[in-house]
Amino acid sequence: MKRIAIFASGSGSNAENIANYFSESDYAQVSLIVANNPNAYVLERAKKLDIESIVINKAQFMEADGLIAELQKREIDFIVLAGFLLLVPQKLIDAYPGRIVNIHPALLPKYGGKGMYGDRVHEAVVAAGEKESGITIHLIDCDYDKGTTFFQATCPVLPEDTPHDVATKVHALEYEHFPHVIEEILHTLD
Ligand code: GAR
Repeated sequence: MKRIAIFASGSGSNAENIANYFSESDYAQVSLIVANNPNAYVLERAKKLDIESIVINKAQFMEADGLIAELQKREIDFIVLAGFLLLVPQKLIDAYPGRIVNIHPALLPKYGGKGMYGDRVHEAVVAAGEKESGITIHLIDCDYDKGTTFFQATCPVLPEDTPHDVATKVHALEYEHFPHVIEEILHTLD
């Protein structure tokens, strides 16, 4: 059984969707949720899903050794960043090479980089008059929103769409594709 840790900073709707997807699987399971904010709603979801969670602060995350020990203690094979807003330190990348995946709510390389997360991304997409947006699922290296793109899916952006409308379409793409793509990436590591 592959053991997945999901890192999230806020609501965690993707975390819940992924956990539900794998709950019936005999191939992989979500074994741990890591949040960098003690008030993140993802922690409530973890409780409801009966998944262990840990909270770490930014300094502990950046220092990484303690977190890596916690992950190794739980035999975590793979890390999913699902709405996680801190830059991943090199030590963690070195401990999980090719085994950390991120989802970004836009078509990278557009609308990525520092400060581009959640609603800010959708606001920028609408402000620029884009005709489409979507999701990018990519393995991560040490820079924000960089690394090998594994999967993209698009949705139309209509002239009358608000950032909220775009967010709704993008979330639907995330829920539809992210669990399957994680499973696909896990199979490439077998
Ligand atoms: C998701 O749309 C995810 O793509 C985005 O944050 C949202 C989290 O929603 N991630 C980023 O913007 C990372 N740069 P959720 O907490 O409900 O899963």
